[in-house]
Amino acid sequence: MELIIRNTRPVGMDADAPVDIAIAGDRIARIAHAIPERADREIDAGGRLVSPPFIEPHIHLDKTQIAGDIPPNRTGTLMGGIEVIWERKRRYTVEDIVARAGRTIEMAVRNGTTRLRTHADVDAIVGLRAVEGLLEVKRRYADLVDMQIIAFPQEGILCDPGTEDLLWQAMDMGADLVGGIPHHEKRPEDWAKHIDVAFRIAKHFDADIDMHVDETDDPAIRSLEVLADKTLNAGYQGRVTAGHTCALAAYPEDYAADVIRRVKRAGIHMITNPATNLVVQGRGDRGLVRRGVTRVKALMAAGINVAFGQDCVYDGFYPFGTADLLEIALLTAHVAHLSLPGEIEAVFRMPTFNSARIWGLDDYGIREGGAADLVVIDCETPAQAVRFHPPRLWVVRNGRVISESSLKSRIHRSG
Ligand code: FE2
Repeated sequence: MELIIRNTRPVGMDADAPVDIAIAGDRIARIAHAIPERADREIDAGGRLVSPPFIEPHIHLDKTQIAGDIPPNRTGTLMGGIEVIWERKRRYTVEDIVARAGRTIEMAVRNGTTRLRTHADVDAIVGLRAVEGLLEVKRRYADLVDMQIIAFPQEGILCDPGTEDLLWQAMDMGADLVGGIPHHEKRPEDWAKHIDVAFRIAKHFDADIDMHVDETDDPAIRSLEVLADKTLNAGYQGRVTAGHTCALAAYPEDYAADVIRRVKRAGIHMITNPATNLVVQGRGDRGLVRRGVTRVKALMAAGINVAFGQDCVYDGFYPFGTADLLEIALLTAHVAHLSLPGEIEAVFRMPTFNSARIWGLDDYGIREGGAADLVVIDCETPAQAVRFHPPRLWVVRNGRVISESSLKSRIHRSG
């Protein structure tokens, strides 16, 4: 036995009865009270919460850590964020991407994340450099994380000539998923054409699809229904993810309900990115400013799989970000009004079990015979994890401790 983590409270198990978790190789060999065997390494978790590691379903590792090297986004808008990166994007090199993405990956690992699905810009400005860079990142950080790379046409497909060819090439090079941004096209009739291109490529490579959809406050932007109908017609249920979908929050109630029904029928996974969208949306509003975040509660109530992503860490869109999914959990709980018992636990399931469904993972969860992947969090319950986002004391991947953290503080009273 290589590792025993003693005295833990695994997510979903009886919180009153801490258990030991014995790990052999890359498997959880046993979960029981007071396991008598000894292991090469023993960790006393002191009754703390153990969760399967977090899964980041939506991040942009090609753009990350770039904010100090580009002009500030003075409009604060999404388009402002896209434009301030253009010049820097031309200067991307593989080593530059490896260095910046590597910093963010190490932050994520410290925070208990061992899987990241990242978008990689594919367009006439950057060509295939971002894909090339992130493929190298995936190779060099394989000891810490699993990565999925989405070939993402950030500047559009029809409105950015040459991008379709580049997307085919990106998939040939080894990108895992096909991305999209239909609402970025100049005319509504081009939304369906954009989506059709993505499906054509995805079907050829038998790849899943993960798109940026309707990232705007404008209720006239309605490509999510087009994506839902196409998903159904193409028989791609369960293989499509839609990120952002901010406009869904701006639609009239009847239309929003109809779109949510279509999304449910199509089995589309939904990802909200509250950190970035709270910053870039609503910039045209005065007085009562819209939150710019999709209808998280209504989507959950419809039985749709909902998760959240970090999206941006210190780039042209978002000057903050710690690659900590518990920080995004707290933001999601605030912005989506998820504050009741049960709702807070549902927020904790988003970066864990819900993201695992998006990733298509079968081998996920703290159970005997399962993968020896886990994180010990310095608290006792999922609700406390969301509230405090406390240190991730030990992060274990494939049976190996890949990160250890602690926080020391002391109050000095005068008496
Ligand atoms: Fe995004």
